[in-house]
Amino acid sequence: MKQIHLKAINSTQDYLKENIHEYLEKNIRDLIVSTSKQTNGYGRNGRIWDYFENALAFSFLLPANQIKTLTSLEIAILIIEFLSIKYKTELYLKWPNDILNSRGEKCGGILLDFFDQNLLIVGVGLNLANSLNDKIFFPHFEKYISPAGYIFDSAELLFNQISKENFKKEMPLNIYNYIIHNRKNSEDIINCWNKLSIHINKLVKIIETAEEKKKYLEGIFIGIGASGEALIKIENEIKSVFVGSLILY
Ligand code: BTN
Repeated sequence: MKQIHLKAINSTQDYLKENIHEYLEKNIRDLIVSTSKQTNGYGRNGRIWDYFENALAFSFLLPANQIKTLTSLEIAILIIEFLSIKYKTELYLKWPNDILNSRGEKCGGILLDFFDQNLLIVGVGLNLANSLNDKIFFPHFEKYISPAGYIFDSAELLFNQISKENFKKEMPLNIYNYIIHNRKNSEDIINCWNKLSIHINKLVKIIETAEEKKKYLEGIFIGIGASGEALIKIENEIKSVFVGSLILY
């Protein structure tokens, strides 16, 4: 296992993408890149991913799940499981793989790039706790699709026995280890995902981005299907959405 921890970097995802060949040539496939400060991070659909002072940003290599489209959902579930075991947090999922706190605010996101058919570059951003500097330095709050929030009410619990720098190195590694040792099969992913969803049986709006023109759908979210697609009930018909962004009411 190889961890590269950088004091600051534009994006751990780009760093890993740019340097992956060097490590694969040495047969290193269990590789994680973390940072204490990400200066130009991005999320799904090229959106900006702001870096908060009390946040984690890391990327790692991971073999895809047998059902490839379930992989990002699996990772989100495993991160929620890890945090709940270690810190008794109560976190939820918004389709497909956003991590929300109990107020419905987004505090974690997952980005996937396929290196090849079976190997993924996974990027994880987790906003741990508020900091007074957040509002001053991050001007994009109004642009977020989901309101931003934090996993913990206070950072004290996290940084009382360990420096912030060490924490930002150690916690990504602990999460990564939990993920690789607790991979799930597709049946478990679908069951766990539906249990953790914050919007099951609720009215939602989905922006379908796979279509050439963006299409908006509105209906009751009844769960996910075998490939992780959103199943939306619209006037007694079930519609499947494979790629998109979901908006909560
Ligand atoms: C999303 O919800 O849109 C996914 C956000 C992913 C952000 C992480 S932070 C670490 C890694 N580096 C990046 O530039 N992005 C991902």
